[in-house]
Amino acid sequence: MAAPRWNPATRGIEAAPAEFCHKVMNQNQDPFKLSLSNFLAAGESNDPLQAPPNFTKWVRESAWARTLYEPELLATADARTTINYDGKQHSVINLCSYNYLGLANHPEVIAAAHEALKTHGLGACGAPILSGMTDLHRELERRVAKFLGREDAMLFNSGFGGALGTISGLLRKLDVAILDNRSHLSLRDGAVLSRCRTEKFEHNDPASLDTALTRQQGRRQLVIMEGIYSMDGDFGNLRELIGVAESHGASAFVDEAHSMLACGDNGRGAAEKFGVEDRIPLVYGTFSKAFGALGGFVAGSSETLEYLRFYAHPYVYSCALPPVVVAAALKALEIGMRQPELRTQLWENADYFHARLRGLGIDTGSSTTYVMPIVIGERERMYRLGHELRQRGLWVAPVDYPAVPLNRVCFRACVTAKHTRADLDEALNILEDTLVAATLQNA
Ligand SMILES: Cc1ncc(COP(=O)(O)O)c(C=O)c1O
Repeated sequence: MAAPRWNPATRGIEAAPAEFCHKVMNQNQDPFKLSLSNFLAAGESNDPLQAPPNFTKWVRESAWARTLYEPELLATADARTTINYDGKQHSVINLCSYNYLGLANHPEVIAAAHEALKTHGLGACGAPILSGMTDLHRELERRVAKFLGREDAMLFNSGFGGALGTISGLLRKLDVAILDNRSHLSLRDGAVLSRCRTEKFEHNDPASLDTALTRQQGRRQLVIMEGIYSMDGDFGNLRELIGVAESHGASAFVDEAHSMLACGDNGRGAAEKFGVEDRIPLVYGTFSKAFGALGGFVAGSSETLEYLRFYAHPYVYSCALPPVVVAAALKALEIGMRQPELRTQLWENADYFHARLRGLGIDTGSSTTYVMPIVIGERERMYRLGHELRQRGLWVAPVDYPAVPLNRVCFRACVTAKHTRADLDEALNILEDTLVAATLQNA
């Protein structure tokens, strides 16, 4: 029976037959021969509510790797924080957080949340369309719309739901969604939910987009891309891709989850940075990254949003954001607008860290932003190094296949405005000792 093989065309392992998983698990073979992609086939158990037994066995046998995931944070998502590691409190330099501007634990943000808790209580206690809308929600809608120069904005209780709800709420069965092949799952799931046709184009490649658009002529087409790609940390090639979309009469949608408030002179994201705001009818972003809070939003024309308010299921059929979170996001927006120096600091830190990583010969792929993969390219080694880094006090996230191609498994490091030079230098020293020294020893 053949082992699953790496398929360069799909950038994935070909699905392993259930017998292969069985053989690996029952002959105590290397659990790194399997990945999450191998447990999607139906049929291993008769009950769909039961995990496949081979999955459970695999997870148990890979517990050593599994323990690097879902770490418990014991304090705020600050540049230095405390996590639970190996059953003990452990101080770490935090390169794992989307708290890009340090607003999640900013005293003014916390004070605003406290105040809202007193005035509005904890939960919104209803979907926005029926009962969950408060004056704070309305105020945040207005402020986001004004900040982005749009007529209106609407809020979602998660960024994921916002992307999924916007795409599925606007696309219809006869439409085509044309997605960059590194698109976030919220976008892909939104397209699947709309039942429209989906196409992919090669990451950031205008020629590949052109081919995909040509193949799907005669339908309404939506080109979907991202401001900053959350795994690769590179910018979307917005100017060129939007140009190609326009030449086909297609619309363009940009997910600004990782770029909103942290990018562009005024914080209006990658579209501002690349001067394409007036070519994008809708702006989508999240409050979970640079805002340091939770939730998503979309801003655009009143007509489109009025329509979307009735057709985006995660908006219509799900509880609104807690007012306490809305108040925090309002304050975060205010600080992000009045303190552009936070963005300057973030980018200085990112540039500094990038340059030093490159100096150490560490592969950061195509990243040019504060999100940086540290490519290891070999799964077992990544998990071994992951433990070593954590023991030495550096917290980075392992990113395994199928989230990234098998030969690009990596740690993802996110630099923030709150990291001091001392934090970054110490992180670099740990990386040098762990990654570079180990490579030299093995050479
Ligand atoms: C590109 C992108 N879009 C959407 C989301 C979903 O955002 P949230 O975590 O706020 O649900 C993420 C999450 O990381 C993301 O990276």
